[in-house]
Amino acid sequence: MMKIMVINGPNLNLLGGREPEIYGQTTLADIVSSLKEKAEQLNCTIIDRQSNHEGEIIDWIHDAKNDCAGLLLNAGAYTHYSYAIRDAISSVQVPTIEIHLSNIYARESFRHTSVLAEVAVGQITGLGSKGYELGLEGLLHYLRGE
Ligand code: DQA
Repeated sequence: MMKIMVINGPNLNLLGGREPEIYGQTTLADIVSSLKEKAEQLNCTIIDRQSNHEGEIIDWIHDAKNDCAGLLLNAGAYTHYSYAIRDAISSVQVPTIEIHLSNIYARESFRHTSVLAEVAVGQITGLGSKGYELGLEGLLHYLRGE
C-alpha cells in the first residue's frame, strides 16, 4: 500500500489549546486520527511525525525518500524562513503538499512568504484541519496521475 508521510513542525503539538481563534480547537491527535481514517478509504497508509526541531524534520524528509510516495508538510513558522527544509524537499524530490490551518496570506506580513512553496506540488492554506484531508486527496490525485 502507498505510504504518505505527514510531518507537523514546531508548536503544532499544542493544537487545540494554542490560539484556538486562529488554529481551531481540534488537537493534533484528532487531526491525525481523522487523516488515518481518510487514508484507509483512499487505500494508503499514513506515517505521522511531529517535531519542534528543524534538523529532525529534515531527517524525516530524507527518510521519506526510502519508502514514502509523498509528503504532507505543515512546517509551522519554518515555512517562512527555513531554506534548509526547502533544500531537503528539493534534494529528495518527494512530491510535497504544503499545509497551513490558517490563511497565511491574511495574517502578519512575515507569514506571506513561504520559502517552501516553490518546491511544493501545491499549497492548502486557511481551511483549518480539513486542509490535511484535502491535501491528502490532492496528493493522491497527483501521484496517481489523475
Ligand atoms: C501555520 C502558519 C504559520 O505561520 C505558523 O507559524 C504556524 C502554523 C498554520 O498551520 O496555519 O505555526 O503553519
